[in-house]
Amino acid sequence: MVNKLNPRLQEPLEEQPLDTQGFERPRNLLNAINEDLAPLLDLAQRPVVSANQFTREQLLQLARLAARYETQPQMITRPLTGKILVSAFYEPSTRTRLSFESAWHRLGGDIMSITDPASTGIAKGETLYDVGEMLNHYGDLVVLRDSNEQAVYEMLESLRVPIINGGNGTDEHPTQALADIYALLKWRPAICQPELDPTQHIRIGIIGVPGRMRTVRSLLVLLGLFSDAIAEVVIVSDKEQPFAAGQREELEAAGLTLRITRDLNQSLPDMDVVYINTIAWIGDDYEELGSHYRLEQSSPLKPDAIILHPLARGDELPRELDNTPHNWYFAQARGAVFMRMALLSSIMKTFT
Ligand code: CP
Repeated sequence: MVNKLNPRLQEPLEEQPLDTQGFERPRNLLNAINEDLAPLLDLAQRPVVSANQFTREQLLQLARLAARYETQPQMITRPLTGKILVSAFYEPSTRTRLSFESAWHRLGGDIMSITDPASTGIAKGETLYDVGEMLNHYGDLVVLRDSNEQAVYEMLESLRVPIINGGNGTDEHPTQALADIYALLKWRPAICQPELDPTQHIRIGIIGVPGRMRTVRSLLVLLGLFSDAIAEVVIVSDKEQPFAAGQREELEAAGLTLRITRDLNQSLPDMDVVYINTIAWIGDDYEELGSHYRLEQSSPLKPDAIILHPLARGDELPRELDNTPHNWYFAQARGAVFMRMALLSSIMKTFT
């Protein structure tokens, strides 16, 4: 029965408050990056499995193309008409699956979606190698999410169409990291500059476990490409060893200055960006890591600090923060559509 007293039913819904959510920023980014589509040509027909595959120039050009899609939707001429995306999500997803599908639709393509491996031959013991062989004939690009980190590599062996890793266990989530970087660049386009004045360097706090969380692992790799604009990355974790073997060394070799702390509130006043996540998918379930870390309106955040979160959120990010200027996590999720459009256009070589 309709609840006639529900205020959400009484008035037309308000439009999004653009300025506070960062939706106006892509225009600034367009001005900050000179167009050069050459680096994107190297992505044509390439699989995307790891954040390590991207160069700084590719990230900048992907972000620029995303900003064009975001600000100039009229330029999109449905270049993927007649092309089919196979969207295979063998693990739950709201944002990655739907934003990839939204991106592909906006580019004019068609979609076949698998959300339950039990509805395919996998339930009868079919290998991902064999499923991949079939998908060569049914689609033009595959996005795969699987709790098993080897799954994407198994399918890659038989695929002759590109595959994008939509999250493989605790290993990587490269396109989430692309969305994170897009949000960061929109927030502070100066990060694009090769020799940024040290007074403008940013301090990024990551509340999470780089060795167990695929979003954090991939993001740190991409942050390494902007290390000359980052004063420090502070990992907030109560784990003795939040990094996987060799991970910290690789990130430091990329130029990142890393520090680990257990004390969130002591570090918050210095952070320009606060990235928070407490969930890691393990097999068919998820593990909460550091869930006692929690942001709230009274947290000692810098007045102009932004909060990013790959979502889904839990108690660590209460809704009381949604209507504050710190909320960049919704803009981050929204921007993922445009960044994924830029990536798909580059892989399918349909950008103009
Ligand atoms: N960020 C992210 O991967 O969200 P989903 O699990 O909803 O895809």
